[in-house]
Amino acid sequence: RLLACSIAPLRYLGPSLALFLSLHLTPFPVYSTSAFSRLEKVGIRHPPTVPFIGNLLFFRQGFWENHKKLINEYGPLCGYYIGRRMYVVVSEPEMIQQILVKDFGNFTNRMTLGLVSKPVVDSILCLRDERWKDVRSLLTPAFSAAKMKEGVLGRAREKGHSEGRKEAQRGTKTPTQEIYCIFNYIVCASFLMTPLINQACDVLLSNLKIYADSGTAFDIQRCYGCFTLDVVASVAFGTQVDSQKNPDNVFIKNCRRFFEFSVFRPIIMLTIAFPFIMIPLLRILPNKNQDQLNGFFINTIKNMIALRDQQNANERRRDFLQLMLDARSSVSYVGMEHFDIVNQADVSIQESDKALAKKVQKTLTEDEIVGQAFIFLLAGYETTTNALSFATYLLATNPECQEKLLQGVDKFFRKHDVPSYQNVHELPYLDMVIAETLRMYPPAFRFTREASKDCTVMGQRIPAGAIVETAVGHLHHNPEFWPEPEKFIPERFTTEAKQQRHPFAYLPFGAGPRSCIGMRLGVLEIKMALLHILQNFKFETCPKTQIPLQLKSEATLGPKNGVYIKIVSR
Ligand code: HEM
Ligand SMILES: *[C@@H]1O[C@H](CO)[C@@H](O)[C@H](O)[C@H]1NC(C)=O
Repeated sequence: RLLACSIAPLRYLGPSLALFLSLHLTPFPVYSTSAFSRLEKVGIRHPPTVPFIGNLLFFRQGFWENHKKLINEYGPLCGYYIGRRMYVVVSEPEMIQQILVKDFGNFTNRMTLGLVSKPVVDSILCLRDERWKDVRSLLTPAFSAAKMKEGVLGRAREKGHSEGRKEAQRGTKTPTQEIYCIFNYIVCASFLMTPLINQACDVLLSNLKIYADSGTAFDIQRCYGCFTLDVVASVAFGTQVDSQKNPDNVFIKNCRRFFEFSVFRPIIMLTIAFPFIMIPLLRILPNKNQDQLNGFFINTIKNMIALRDQQNANERRRDFLQLMLDARSSVSYVGMEHFDIVNQADVSIQESDKALAKKVQKTLTEDEIVGQAFIFLLAGYETTTNALSFATYLLATNPECQEKLLQGVDKFFRKHDVPSYQNVHELPYLDMVIAETLRMYPPAFRFTREASKDCTVMGQRIPAGAIVETAVGHLHHNPEFWPEPEKFIPERFTTEAKQQRHPFAYLPFGAGPRSCIGMRLGVLEIKMALLHILQNFKFETCPKTQIPLQLKSEATLGPKNGVYIKIVSR
């Protein structure tokens, strides 16, 4: 959940609770309304507010539909309050580009929730300012893959990862060596994680086969949830499990508890409405469950780190955890100018930033390593699961597109035995299907930046402390950029069509230096899962399939009641 840091789940807020709060807790009218004049002062329109809770009620059905409603009623640049906090909603590509990229220096952080505890606070999602920049730069090599060229790749592979690192550690670094060092990580990340993902795909297939054989309708989202969790366990926590067959595994159980406790606690609602009372209170009140759970994860990872440190280099499992452990002593440091940025258009980073990047602390502490391993749970688990579910729904309900994709898949497997990091790029139609899926249903459809000072963006004043929120859902369904936005048309993403569109009309992974660091890994996971499945089965709708699909959008955008379909062996 981009979660704890930017998205407020409203699931448990019955209207009656909110009403109760607003009716019974109004003895401080001055406090409760004075905060609500700040947007108006800079000319940003918003729905009428309720004392204390602001516009919370406006979003009680989730954010997806209500973003649209808000923008239609109050204009493309509008706002709202949740508790005392003000939000500015931006939905025009130019303005979004200005905030995410050109004025990044004024909008470096996501909003904070004030309540998240270790290990989540240490994760890159929540880190702020310089520390964020350090950690992002240390992690970038582990995730990056964009500029990988066959030549460099071959060379790096010959030398091997550890050797290359030693080499770089020995002498003074020339720029080429520095880059070489980065490529070493890339090689590891892509080559070494692919087999781990393939393993998880095999487990997924054997679980799906049961449904194919019996011909019963089932909720495929559950299977995808298990699949992504297996990948998380394997890649980030160094543990191999089949979570569908072993729901009682401690790790799996704790992951589920993690989501139940930390995110869906109704207490979060109270905190948002009354941060000034609740945050100090919650810091004092012991929270046994939460502490136990955090303790479990922290210990699991710390034990794993101790184990890895005892092992010889060649015995160690090559996974994301190991890459981070390597980064502890790494000499490679990637300045912000090398960040693997999703939307490259007009990236301009000032000289002063480069100078700063050199000075700061360059290693990850153990706590931070634990925090980063959490990224996969926080930012990677639900987004990827939902994206897979949406793609499946769209393929099942658009059989002609599925047919076209199947032809590509068959052609692919005539050439290759297994999908790998490099060969999945040979399927342009699969790319288009995934891109169009993420246009229609972007799982992370709202993300935020906090204005660090009063500033003016394209003539609009934005007060310090305002949370600027990108309305990706509105953007992706704007008929100005996407004719017939409710239709699934993968051809919107041919190279020619893409060139003709504003690059900021499409933002499933955000943009600028703070964009999704896991994009390549997420897309790789989705591609590999779909390839494995479609080699063996195809998706079909059944009477239980909900058409049109109902959505939930309190946190990420996902299917409200799962995705019921049938799969048929090919
Ligand atoms: C289909 C899957 C995914 C989608 C749609 C997605 C989308 C996003 C979006 C929209 C953001 C916010 C970008 C911004 O603020 O500009 C984000 C941030 C992030 N994502 Fe993803 N993501 C996905 C998968 C993953 C995976 C698999 C990982 C990691 C394993 C990951 C790690 C992160 C991290 C760490 C951030 C925060 C980066 C920072 O603050 O520097 N994501 N993601
Ligand atoms: C931040 O905002 C101020 C005031 O609008 C502006 O002068 C400055 O150029 C901005 N800085 C960055 C890095 O965008």
